[in-house]
Amino acid sequence: LLSQIGPDAHMRMILRKPPGQRTVDDLEIIYEELLHIKALSHLSTTVKRELAGVLIFESHPKAGTVLFNQGEEGTSWYIILKGSVNVVIYGKGVVCTLHEGDDFGKLALVNDAPRAASIVLREDNCHFLRVDKEDFNRILRDVEANTVRLKEHDQDVLVLEKIPAGNRVSNQGNSQPQHKYIVMSGTPEKILEHFLETMRLEATLNEATEQLKVHLERMLDFTPSQGTEQEKMDYALNNKRRVIRLVLQWAALYGDLLQEDEAAMAFLEEFYVSVSDDTRMIAALKEQLPELEKIVKQVSEEPKAPQKKHKVLLQLFNASDDRAQKRQPIRGTDEVLFKVYCIDQTYTTIRVPVSSSVKEVISAVADKLGSGEGLIIVKMSSGGEKVVLKPHDVSVFTTLSVNGRLFACPRDQFDSLAPLPEQEGPSTGTMGTFELMSSKDLAHQMTIYDWELFNCVHEDPSRNHRAYRLTVGKLDPPIIPFMPLLIKAHDCQHCQDGEILPKPIFQFCCGIFCHYEMSSTSASFVQIRFDDLQFFENCGGGSFGSVYRARWISQDKEVAVKKLLKIEKE
Ligand code: CMP
Repeated sequence: LLSQIGPDAHMRMILRKPPGQRTVDDLEIIYEELLHIKALSHLSTTVKRELAGVLIFESHPKAGTVLFNQGEEGTSWYIILKGSVNVVIYGKGVVCTLHEGDDFGKLALVNDAPRAASIVLREDNCHFLRVDKEDFNRILRDVEANTVRLKEHDQDVLVLEKIPAGNRVSNQGNSQPQHKYIVMSGTPEKILEHFLETMRLEATLNEATEQLKVHLERMLDFTPSQGTEQEKMDYALNNKRRVIRLVLQWAALYGDLLQEDEAAMAFLEEFYVSVSDDTRMIAALKEQLPELEKIVKQVSEEPKAPQKKHKVLLQLFNASDDRAQKRQPIRGTDEVLFKVYCIDQTYTTIRVPVSSSVKEVISAVADKLGSGEGLIIVKMSSGGEKVVLKPHDVSVFTTLSVNGRLFACPRDQFDSLAPLPEQEGPSTGTMGTFELMSSKDLAHQMTIYDWELFNCVHEDPSRNHRAYRLTVGKLDPPIIPFMPLLIKAHDCQHCQDGEILPKPIFQFCCGIFCHYEMSSTSASFVQIRFDDLQFFENCGGGSFGSVYRARWISQDKEVAVKKLLKIEKE
């Protein structure tokens, strides 16, 4: 058979077999073949033998076939066995051509980034060897070459170098690869492109600042190799301008959060100093200086409240009107004063960090009670639903519904726990007072308040979809920028039934999901039952701290949102 179909065809036949069906002989034949491939020449025998078991043959008959598109998720690494491909980038067209023995598609895999370019077949009948992501990560990721060079029109545009990544553990708990590639040099455009694609949107501000700094430095390092002195100067100037613009945008994106982060502040100040130094030499940079100055001033002059590093939130939900406190996000290290109830409905007040675990809560309670033998912590809703919290659950206060309470008791008392009378909610209303107000006054107050809230809403850069957060730290409405509404209390621990909610409560409790229409002459109101809103801590720490997200949990219950009354023009 072999003599009839020729060695190439035999090889292809073996390589087309699903990896599981390859015999020992097949693997040996593949291995022998791999010894001749340029892209693999730096790899050890062991790695090549492992590759023999997973490489897949892929061929495409037609020139013009797109192997993959820029921006797509990277699923495989490729080696060209026969033929050639064009590397195509949006807005640039073909930036280079790769030939037999070259490889491509590694970048997206090692950086967990989208494809940096599209790959288009340059001729008919191209053959490739393909290694899929999982195999690549297992076998190759950490042994790959130290340097990755990307060329455009025969010039190096980006040089990446492999460095140890430290022992990071990802959110999912699986350990990360031991290496990552960082930028060593390149053209500013390419560095920026690379930076934008590889930047981690979930990175803490600190990490983001670090990344930004490194990339900006590399961008400023670049000097074009061609052109007159004047052209080089122009280029450098333009480059600086763009870097300043980028920093301005970065500062605008992170907004108030910059104050929270010393490294970011230091960077901004340092950057400002070096730009103002530069403006002495390069007058043309002056234009952007005032804007930068404004941001630096704004950030460094706002009260940093250093003594509030661990601010105490007097009962988490009971935010005061104090402006300084209002503007600060809640962080895991902030302390909260909280009541934990006993079976006889007495309570102890404990003071623990927001992010503390149930275990820590138990020990705080035990300290107060003088004994903590076999205590469990139970979350009780106003409806009497009881959940025993696990020792490793964290930030439990933030998961309580507004009328929920925490109980501590020995396990054998669990069955006899009952909700507190106060959990059933207040029963008298203040509807009367409300009806005495004129609709104009009301509309005016609401407009002022809405505007204030609106000003507190920022795009949340830690999310990779469009999300908004309130700097006040109480709510993080993920769905719509903001929809003002006025709500009346019902079943709320802070307010009388029917009372129009005061600001802080509003911030914490408002549904954001309900419509409220208002003009200067009329307003409609909605009512929300607080039990229908569930709050949970969303961001796992970092400089974004504990940001709360509200979830509407009873969309199916029409009763949840009810139009109550409409005030017509007087
Ligand atoms: P990846 O981003 O996974 O997918 C596109 C591939 O094209 C990329 O990896 C590189 O392997 C390859 N490539 C070659 N030259 C360039 C270039 N100048 N810019 C981007 N990608 C390039």
